[in-house]
Amino acid sequence: MKTRIIRYTGRESLALAAEVIRRGGLVAFPTETVYGLGGNALDPDAAKKIYRAKGRPSDNPLIVHLGSAADAERYAVTGDLFDRIAETLMPGPLTVILKKRDMIPDSVTGGLDTVGIRVPSHPVARELIELAGVPIAAPSANLSGKPSPTSFDHVYHDLNGKVDVIIDGGPSDFGLESTIIKPEDGVIHLLRPGAVTVEMLSLFDQPIEIDPAVTRRFDGVPLAPGMKYRHYAPDKPLVVLDGCDEAVYSYLAERERRAVICFDEDLSAIDGEHVVSCGSKSDSLTQAQRLFACLRELDGLTDIDVIYARMPAKVGIGLAVFNRLIKAAGFQVLRLEPPTR
Ligand code: TXA
Ligand code: MG
Repeated sequence: MKTRIIRYTGRESLALAAEVIRRGGLVAFPTETVYGLGGNALDPDAAKKIYRAKGRPSDNPLIVHLGSAADAERYAVTGDLFDRIAETLMPGPLTVILKKRDMIPDSVTGGLDTVGIRVPSHPVARELIELAGVPIAAPSANLSGKPSPTSFDHVYHDLNGKVDVIIDGGPSDFGLESTIIKPEDGVIHLLRPGAVTVEMLSLFDQPIEIDPAVTRRFDGVPLAPGMKYRHYAPDKPLVVLDGCDEAVYSYLAERERRAVICFDEDLSAIDGEHVVSCGSKSDSLTQAQRLFACLRELDGLTDIDVIYARMPAKVGIGLAVFNRLIKAAGFQVLRLEPPTR
């Protein structure tokens, strides 16, 4: 299939893309989290096309993107807690799992009776939904198992020739996928951490339960089916190094044919060709923005055998950086003791 590339230059530039969505085609588009691969959420065939283009298992449900939280009631059973959350956090990088209404086809939700509702804040995503006039089902616009795309180039690399349209709307703001929560009986279950943080969710004065699949290998059935897949995985093995600066530096000094994802502060202390920083040690937001691009960059290398990454701080959006990193690493974390003298 020939993929049309559209550079966003204002609302008029989205007319063709909106038409493609309405007719059941696929459009990759920017959001504030990562790029999405969108199709009409009311059309079961569009959902099937999305799964095919990504090479994604069809039991892994798609998030439904709406122009406004007020529309959620048409497609899902909302409620008081949803309304409170939506009022402060939507539009924004948040997905809320709710009981679905019949209008949403089973193929969109992987057969589940719930649906993920998200109202993106990115102007291109918002205009596209509005012009299309239908809710847009969209997973991240990567091939299944690859890091989510945070730039047009990433999407082009994975999906050129497999989708009708790719919209170039510049780099993503946050760089990691939305926070996913499921409000149930007054409890907020955190299924996937993101830029809407635990600290922000605690403002609703409801208990917050972090799903075990967020922080460790989990062999049960996670609440978000997608969390069971080995996501975001580079082809080369990735190992997370947990230890003080000294321990990490001396460990890396003895390793050859390796690449490293580190912090700005480490760059002068770690030798070697393939050493990239994902941001300052205390700047979790920048680490989030750069993590997937770092993984994609290093994964293409042929003269390395392994990628090492430093353990990020786990507070705020750092919890999301940690979650994506340990999943990409297949939960391989090496705890390093300070060197003895
Ligand atoms: O930021 C994002 O959320 C991006 C942009 C494009 O909006 N989308 C995204 O979609 O990350 P995807 O498909 O890559 O990840 C969706 C995750 C999967 O882990 C899936 O299992 C979970 O959301 N999910 C979707 N619907 C669900 C539901 N009804 N119940 C539980 N988990 C659900
Ligand atoms: Mg994804």
